[in-house]
Amino acid sequence: MTKTIKAAIVGTGFIGPAHLEALRRIPNIEVIALCEVNQELAEEKAKLLGIPNAYTFDEMLKQPEIDVVHICTPNFLHYSQSKAVLEAGKHVVCEKPLATKIEEAEELVALAKEKGLVNAVHFNLRYYPMVRQMKTMRESGELGDIYSIMGSYLQDWLFLKTDYNWRLEPDKSGDSRAIADIGSHLLDLTEYVTGLKVTEVMADFSTVHKTRLKPLKAIETYSGKMLTESDYEEVDINTEDHATVLLRFDNGNKGSVTVSQVNAGRKNRLNIEIAGSKSNFEWCSEKPNEMWIGKRETANQHLMKDPSLFTQEAAGLISFPGGHNEGFPDTSKQMFKEVYAAVAEGKQPETPSFPTFEDGYRELLICERIIESNKKQAWVKI
Ligand SMILES: NC(=O)c1ccc[n+]([C@@H]2O[C@H](COP(=O)([O-])OP(=O)(O)OC[C@H]3O[C@@H](n4cnc5c(N)ncnc54)[C@H](O)[C@@H]3O)[C@@H](O)[C@H]2O)c1
Repeated sequence: MTKTIKAAIVGTGFIGPAHLEALRRIPNIEVIALCEVNQELAEEKAKLLGIPNAYTFDEMLKQPEIDVVHICTPNFLHYSQSKAVLEAGKHVVCEKPLATKIEEAEELVALAKEKGLVNAVHFNLRYYPMVRQMKTMRESGELGDIYSIMGSYLQDWLFLKTDYNWRLEPDKSGDSRAIADIGSHLLDLTEYVTGLKVTEVMADFSTVHKTRLKPLKAIETYSGKMLTESDYEEVDINTEDHATVLLRFDNGNKGSVTVSQVNAGRKNRLNIEIAGSKSNFEWCSEKPNEMWIGKRETANQHLMKDPSLFTQEAAGLISFPGGHNEGFPDTSKQMFKEVYAAVAEGKQPETPSFPTFEDGYRELLICERIIESNKKQAWVKI
């Protein structure tokens, strides 16, 4: 009989429940426990989400039946929690960014290697079928030599001075905000799809709201619209709302990425355009089932997600026939299918198909160099 793999989720705000939902869509996996910032909230969330056990983090680590732990907490906890999970002999799926400091990420990579346990970083955007399609089409030469790459990731959820979240506090989020939070996905995708490596960066950040109004009461307990002036304190903001980064790649060509969390109307829009010597690929995460293929000598093409039109590898990430849209929640399901196949084997594969702690380290390295470049206002080598 196939063994049921048992998992626990640490942190059940926005993305923790997305992990839970994805895991529940895969056979032979059971989420048996969660951890929260305090026991009262853990018990409340366990009831709400239908998870049988609410533990403190230390108690959870002592449960022998838990095979895998998903870290879905604010960034500053990823390092210590991932380390503790590995030391407890359990497999780990950590949210991005892997850590807030490069040395921490380096240590986690070494520890995961030493333990041989499965380690993954949730760069789930790689698992849009169209992203895999672009990658495999590039591998088979349909893009040709890459001339340039232009990427953007735009959001508006921090548009107003009254918008507030832990991501605005460097002790919880790290020294970068927009680049670490959403730029990390975009840069991961850029290297993943193109197969190129970023070799040098030149960054320019801007903090549009130099101060923000922080709610004095817990933000989730009531909607922003019900707050009055006396419910806020004004706090200084020292991480970027917006960033532009020029990129140099290891094939000698160039590109750029722009990220912003203050772009009205752009809810969560990652757009990438890769110009090659044979064609151009353009893809946008807000219309993830479509891709534009630009041509010079023939008519441009518009490809819709359809397993019968996709490469075999990309079709493997599709669960529904053409015309049946798949989106953000499906990306985690597709990624966890690969991660849990490794968990079933009990060890990290030699060449994992999923993003690992090493990929998490790579993104942190690029992010640190981007921060350095912005500080120096100069090109910095990766
Ligand atoms: N891959 C993606 O697409 C994606 C999307 C969103 C968030 N994320 C990442 O996921 C992480 C969480 O983001 P979020 O948006 O869900 O944040 P969130 O604030 O909505 O949720 C964080 C949760 O962690 C809990 N928590 C805080 N301290 C804890 C502790 N010591 N022990 C246990 N639980 C604790 C909080 O109570 C909250 O429920 C971040 O690192 C973020 O970068 C990734």
